[in-house]
Amino acid sequence: MLKGKRLTLRPVVEEDWELRYKWLTDPEINSTLPSGNGIPLTPNTVRERTRKYAESNDKSVYFTIFNKEDKSIGNAQLYKINPWNRNAELGLWIGEKSEWGKGYGTEVVEILVNFAFSRLNLHKVYLTVDSDNIGAIRCYEKVGFYKDGVLRDEVFKNGKYVNRIYMSILETDIIKT
Ligand SMILES: CC(C)(COP(=O)(O)OP(=O)(O)OC[C@H]1O[C@@H](n2cnc3c(N)ncnc32)[C@H](O)[C@@H]1OP(=O)(O)O)[C@@H](O)C(=O)NCCC(=O)NCCS
Repeated sequence: MLKGKRLTLRPVVEEDWELRYKWLTDPEINSTLPSGNGIPLTPNTVRERTRKYAESNDKSVYFTIFNKEDKSIGNAQLYKINPWNRNAELGLWIGEKSEWGKGYGTEVVEILVNFAFSRLNLHKVYLTVDSDNIGAIRCYEKVGFYKDGVLRDEVFKNGKYVNRIYMSILETDIIKT
């Protein structure tokens, strides 16, 4: 379990699949996720993936996010953990839309970055985000992520191409801020 001021992140268990299916099939959420490609998800696919995410391994860790009322509100993960380069990719979604805009996204990123640097001994955490996802970019910048680069017209969604942005934070950035 990872604990923040208000949120708790507990490793995903297989039983989380139904909630994850509900969140992932919400078009507003699915279209924001780098993994969302418009191909409809089936319950079987999500259940199978959730089962895999629930297995411990040293390459990735998936969490379900709980608020103070002990309600599951979303997913967060560190994956592609690379012990040689000492980096990992971060991903998250707050699946309960009523919980957006309460600072939870920012808190989740802070918790994961702190875990990555102080427990996993990583040097860098990176992520990708679509350039039209203003809320997510603001959330990452608030924690101290920098924009590393832009992949032009990387994603086709809602009838047009959008850029995808690479962002990262180094352990030394934390000391500076
Ligand atoms: C993106 C997401 C994680 C942000 O989480 P959140 O809890 O709503 O964000 P926070 O409340 O921590 O807000 C962080 C900052 O972003 C701003 N922000 C949030 N949503 C915004 C929006 N839609 N437009 C403009 N600014 C926004 C907030 O005002 C805040 O900045 P401030 O403190 O300067 O006011 C959440 O909206 C979400 O899960 N969306 C769907 C999935 C997704 O986009 N995942 C990320 C994929 S890369």
